[in-house]
Amino acid sequence: MSRTTWILGNWKQNHRNEAAVECAKGIAEGLEAATANPAQGCPQLRVGVAPTYLALNATAPFARSHSELWLLAQDVAAQESGAFTGEVGVAMLRDAGVEAAIVGHSERRAYYGDTNGLVADKVANALEHGLTVVLCVGESLSARDAGEHESTVISQLSESLARVDSKAIDERLVIAYEPVWAIGTGRTATPEQARDMHRAIRAHLAETYGDTGRDRSILYGGSVKPGNAAELIAAGDIDGFLVGGASLQADSFLAIVTAAAQTARPS
Ligand code: 13P
Repeated sequence: MSRTTWILGNWKQNHRNEAAVECAKGIAEGLEAATANPAQGCPQLRVGVAPTYLALNATAPFARSHSELWLLAQDVAAQESGAFTGEVGVAMLRDAGVEAAIVGHSERRAYYGDTNGLVADKVANALEHGLTVVLCVGESLSARDAGEHESTVISQLSESLARVDSKAIDERLVIAYEPVWAIGTGRTATPEQARDMHRAIRAHLAETYGDTGRDRSILYGGSVKPGNAAELIAAGDIDGFLVGGASLQADSFLAIVTAAAQTARPS
């Protein structure tokens, strides 16, 4: 099957309203041209950005007027509503035009105590209430150096998906592999390192959830730039990107979209 290719921008704690609007507008306006000449066999392409919660309302009109541009949240509450100070629930996000949420980003895991258990609650709640989930996993440098990168990622994955069954594992679950040592460091995983991990993730999902698990899109994140996007896609088994720094400017983000659209996938 041909899995959807996702190119998603995670703006993190950047872009106040004015800058967020300018960036979203630039991306929305350039999207048609960026995807105009896809390589033969290029799968369906889905492009989205994740502004801060406070910039969602300001950027939503650009997503709405260009149905091709998805609006994402950078996180989501584990509960639907109630006495949870500082949290934002699925229904609130949907009101703002959000279609998907990033869950379990390594920065949330490292700085805000998002354990696999909490991530599992967020994933289950978001899927149950109709949001697409981009579940992030990725190993530290010490785990990679110790040769424990695969086991680390697979246990993150299985614990983070502990509260969803195979019925919930549908097209609304997307996985993002983001090795911590490659995030914001300029040090990208080699195409082979990324591809091998994606294969391990896919094998685990297939074993656990059957065909639906095997067919999930798996994105790579970590210092993706216009200059390395094509070689990553060409490695195979990489169904797009979760982009940080290079998504903050419309031009560089669109160049990554173009590279993903125009690069042939290995058969
Ligand atoms: P960079 O692209 O800045 O390395 O960030 C990756 C990331 O964390 C996306 O979620």
